[in-house]
Parts: sequence; C-alpha cells; structure tokens
Amino acid sequence: MANQVMVMDHPLIQHKLTFLRDKRTGSKEFRELVSEIAMLMCYEATRDLPLEETQVETPVGLAHTKVIAGRKLAFVPILRAGLGMVDGVLRMVPAAKVGHIGLYRDHQTLQPVEYYSKLPSDIQERDVIVLDPMLATGGSAVDAISIIKRSGPKSIKFMCIIAAPEGVEAFTKAHPDVPVYCADVDSHLNEHGYIVPGLGDAGDRIFGTL
Ligand code: PRP
Ligand code: URA
Repeated sequence: MANQVMVMDHPLIQHKLTFLRDKRTGSKEFRELVSEIAMLMCYEATRDLPLEETQVETPVGLAHTKVIAGRKLAFVPILRAGLGMVDGVLRMVPAAKVGHIGLYRDHQTLQPVEYYSKLPSDIQERDVIVLDPMLATGGSAVDAISIIKRSGPKSIKFMCIIAAPEGVEAFTKAHPDVPVYCADVDSHLNEHGYIVPGLGDAGDRIFGTL
C-alpha cells in the first residue's frame, strides 16, 4: 500500500505553527503550542476510528447516537521531543496507552542511536500513533517504526509537525504502509541535517536545553 501524506492545513494549526517557528518563542509557550498542535492534529489522525450505534436517555427523550467501537489506541512518542506531543493527544484520547522509544541523532553521522524502548504489553491489540515533531532525514522515524512493527501492532500511523522532503521520501520508501500526518512540509535540510526553515532543535526548545 502506498503512503498517504496528509498535510493538515487547518487555520488553527497553521496559526499556531507560525508562533512555534518564531525564534522569539520561549520554552513555556513553545511547549504549550506543541501540545495544542498535537491535540488538533489528533482529530484528523483519528478520523477513521469506527463508530457503533448506541442510545442514551436525554432529559427529553431517547437519542440514537454513536460511540467509538471499542478500538484501542497507543501513542508512542520518540524521545525526547515527541514527549511534548503526549499531553495534547491524551486530552483527546485519555484511555490510550503510552509507549516510549528513545532515539537520538548522532550529531556527526546523523544516524539514529536507540537507547530505550518500552511498549504496552497488549500492543498487538492496539492501533499505534507514533509522535515526533520533526521528520528531518527520516532516520529516527524509520527506525522507531521498525522497532514498533516487530511487536506486531494492529496498525501504525506517524504524526509529526514539520517534515522535510528528504524525510518524507526516506520514510515512505522504508514504510510505504504507514500514513504520515504533518502540519507542513518545508524546503530542505541544511548541511547539519536541520530542517530549513523549520523551527530549530525541537527537543532543546521544549526542554530549554539550548
Ligand atoms: C530530533 C527529532 C527527531 C529527529 C529527527 O531528535 O525530535 O527525533 O531529531 O531527525 P531525523 O529525521 O534526521 O532522524 P534528536 O535526535 O535531536 O533528539 P532529542 O529529541 O532527544 O533532542
Ligand atoms: N531535529 C530537530 O529537532 N530539528 C531539525 O530541524 C532536525 C532534526
């Protein structure tokens, strides 16, 4: 199956993304914006959740309504920066479980180095949404998805905020079966592997480690 790459052009997401990119935005506001954007993106990424019919008594009468059909979700942030998106998505799906994949990019080689992995024990019963604000070379996301695939989840989606064309290409080649949700696709990577114009180092801006 060929990837779908969904760019979420909703005005609220695009508005918040402008302030997220701004170099004058401090860590507190940056964290709030990452969380809010993740929450808004979660609407679209969960659009295909199946519903089932139910009914409830309102104060006035019987309403024939719908609820989500027992589908179980897991969110898996890629450490560190993916952590910034967890609060937002959990506000939308509070019953979801959260796994963690620890990867950092070696500054010389730009290759991802794995240092942690803890996934829900019942992941085979779950639809997984992987979270990382940045898809740059794509190495981290490609490795994270490979790790998660080995544990056999029902399905996987990848949600990032800014993607580089190079990352989209590498990701879709490695995992053509995994849909990608992002808020924007930028111009290119610079010689240090940073997305241009991007927003800088997402982990450092979230955690104030610049
Ligand atoms: C950043 C980002 C992604 C990765 C993207 O993490 O959060 O995980 O880089 O780059 P790639 O697509 O080229 O792999 P980083 O390695 O800086 O680690 P951190 O989140 O711990 O700061
Ligand atoms: N990781 C980041 O945090 N920012 C980039 O631009 C590229 C990788």
